[in-house]
Amino acid sequence: MIITSLGNSLKLAQELAKKLNVTYSPLTISAFPDEDLYLKFNISLKRKTLVIVESLFPYSQKSLLDIIFTAETAKDLGAKKVILIAPYLAYMRQDKRFHPGEAISSKIMAKLLNDSVDKLITIDPHVHRYKSLQQVFKIPAVSLTSNHLIAAYVKKHWKNAVLLGPDWESSQWAARIAEEVGFESTILEKTRHSSRHVSVKLVKTPNLKAVSLQGKNVVIIDDIISTGKTIAEAAKLVRRLGAKMITAIGVHGLFVENALPKLKKAGVNRIVTSNCIEHKSNGIDVVTILADSLKKEK
Ligand code: R5P
Repeated sequence: MIITSLGNSLKLAQELAKKLNVTYSPLTISAFPDEDLYLKFNISLKRKTLVIVESLFPYSQKSLLDIIFTAETAKDLGAKKVILIAPYLAYMRQDKRFHPGEAISSKIMAKLLNDSVDKLITIDPHVHRYKSLQQVFKIPAVSLTSNHLIAAYVKKHWKNAVLLGPDWESSQWAARIAEEVGFESTILEKTRHSSRHVSVKLVKTPNLKAVSLQGKNVVIIDDIISTGKTIAEAAKLVRRLGAKMITAIGVHGLFVENALPKLKKAGVNRIVTSNCIEHKSNGIDVVTILADSLKKEK
């Protein structure tokens, strides 16, 4: 097995290779003067399994195309199998035509990967309207979760806290992690008015416990922090309801459009993410779950 990366997940790829005791081989990647991609392997791939570790952020289009060029070249050079580990899988939120004429980008992304890689491994993908990744991927597509790692982080840092999901989709993290650590949890109701404008409210439905936030440590958990709007609105509401300290945990920290100052201004005291996307807020290390999922491929 040979592990490589294209730049977005360099550190994670090297750590994974070290953990599995396999070769990490850097690619030579550059651009021709007209920006065409130049790509070169520096190791023989004959009958080897190549693992490309590359989150599709930043530069989602470019990294998708780089992955395709890398996978196709590997096969051309005799690789037996090409596995893509994309800890963050972009485009998954566009899983339906919300307005006439729109692209269902998740399907297109999956189609491109189906044609060039043999297997996909990802972490906490945004699978909501699809039943599973297999609904869009023809290749084996493994969806790992960082839930146990987040639960361990929460247990280590708080004796007691309320775990909060900013929308019903996030209950697969917030509510499940709360169950695992034995903390209270609550879920907000989110209305998305546009990609940059959301509002949240506390809903009291019969199956949701009425949880008091007064004087509590509140940990907001979501899969993606992109513009930070969702978490910021949740934090403002939670602060109004008397929370003492607010922490935001995101599996995938994209932090676009000044998300960090926005979150601070909304009253978020601490922000923690996993290293699915490299960022200074990384505090949850996914290397062990990736290594476990690759062991049988060695
Ligand atoms: C959407 O349903 C996701 O789970 C996140 O809540 C969303 O992607 C966060 O985006 P933003 O940070 O831009 O509000």
